[in-house]
Amino acid sequence: MPLLLGVNIDHIATLRQARYSGSVDSPNAEPCPVQGGHDALAGGADSLTIHVRGDRRHMQDADAFRIRAEVPLPLNFEMGVTEEMIGIALKLKPDFACLVPETRQEISTEGGLDVCAGFEKIHEAVTRLQAAGIRVSLFVDPDPAQLEASVKTGAAMIELHTGCFANALGNDVDTELARLSAAARLGHASGLQVNAGHGLNYHNLSRILTVPHLTELNIGHSIVARAIRIGFTPAVREMKALMAAYTLAS
Ligand code: PXP
Repeated sequence: MPLLLGVNIDHIATLRQARYSGSVDSPNAEPCPVQGGHDALAGGADSLTIHVRGDRRHMQDADAFRIRAEVPLPLNFEMGVTEEMIGIALKLKPDFACLVPETRQEISTEGGLDVCAGFEKIHEAVTRLQAAGIRVSLFVDPDPAQLEASVKTGAAMIELHTGCFANALGNDVDTELARLSAAARLGHASGLQVNAGHGLNYHNLSRILTVPHLTELNIGHSIVARAIRIGFTPAVREMKALMAAYTLAS
């Protein structure tokens, strides 16, 4: 089974919002996230990820529904664990939902979900979403206690937070990779599908490919940044080509 690439297209909306936040319906409002979804598909993306944040800083609700209706790729809906987002997910009916922590001040998702502390609420959200046919993933740090709590929620998948690895320098890189590998083994042994993401790029990807049992990587910022130089479809294609070297799938 090849390692799958979920392309996060939030930053296409980030760029649009930089100029058109007050007039997203204007014919001038570019770039278009739906077109980005088609371009990712053409580059070999296996799924799309979008995050409608509580503050609507990039993707808008209408983007999510248009992408769902128009782009023939599995959709991963990244969401905070709020009643508002559960309501949107139940209407949107994405293939997958990834539950993430969300605070207003953060630039991007910082750290994994604290499944231990928020167990009741997360368990309830997982149950409601999966009952509606949406496979749920929990975005967690590579920490055994978080993994054990994740299993107890009944979620089908985890997404290991790779941000600490991506920010590590020197010997800390190996330490972070060892944590990720141990978490991937534990997740796999517990019957979870193991995905990973955050801060992955064309340079650090080769190290992540040493982590076993990965099914999917979710990558956004680096692909959008590369797209400015070579175009979105080729940027996705390049990332997929690098990922083809993965040999440690289950
Ligand atoms: N996975 C999750 C849960 C995220 O929150 C993000 C960022 O939105 C990503 C993956 C993608 O991270 P990046 O944009 O750094 O590739």
